[in-house]
Amino acid sequence: MSTQPTEWKPELYNDKHSFVYTYGENLILLLDPKKNERILDLGCGSGQLTFKINELAKETIGIDQSQEMIDAAKLKFNKIEFLVGDAEDFKFNEQFDSIFSNATLHWVKNYKRAIKCMFENLKVNGKIVLEFGGKGNVQTIVNQLKGSLRYRGYHEQSKLDLWYFPSIGEYSTALESVGFRVLLAEHYDRPTELSDEKSGIKDWISMFAESFFRNVNPVHIEEIKNEVQEKLKEECLINGKWFADYKRIRIVAIKEKVLNNQ
Ligand code: BEZ
Repeated sequence: MSTQPTEWKPELYNDKHSFVYTYGENLILLLDPKKNERILDLGCGSGQLTFKINELAKETIGIDQSQEMIDAAKLKFNKIEFLVGDAEDFKFNEQFDSIFSNATLHWVKNYKRAIKCMFENLKVNGKIVLEFGGKGNVQTIVNQLKGSLRYRGYHEQSKLDLWYFPSIGEYSTALESVGFRVLLAEHYDRPTELSDEKSGIKDWISMFAESFFRNVNPVHIEEIKNEVQEKLKEECLINGKWFADYKRIRIVAIKEKVLNNQ
């Protein structure tokens, strides 16, 4: 969200990276929205999951840091409220029954502020249902990308740390420290098939990791993307299909009632 350095391209996202919200549909089962509930979709992207949640809930609001994504969401789902907002700094007048977030919180480097915002914007006994990149996420791709940058002398770019991929121990502890009770915390491998058989890894880099190429000679950009994809064939090309080495963290937690004597 506020720390997202990427310029989002809703067409490329919907066209070749729709797996982001397809996988997220599964998470809605955990959210289990009810007809009387008001729900926040934090990092709603182009609004596909917000729409699905809204079908089951009383009201759903989607926020995202990207103006481009919010414009695309409003255009497609014009009955839903979508707002540009920052996961590290948001405040609504009315608290929510649940907060849902799919594939967003790894962009939020100041995770403690995001956790505080979620807590403050939730009713007592309200629930958060979160999924995002966990420890070791996309490490194979990123290690190779950094190696190819370093090889060409782009040392600063190769040191970039764009995302926050925590362990469940670290994230659960941070949640508990503000007053959440963590009901479920999972860290699991989810090799994720990329849609384009010719340029799967290259497209992934263009969509999500273009920031590594700031101040890189344009001649080298395509060369590096080609090299990364080529070098990852053994690990990431399986039966003619490209896979990204996603590792997910999945959390369900409840905002506990604060007792006077605690
Ligand atoms: C992810 O969903 O795991 C992810 C997406 C973009 C960049 C890094 C990770």
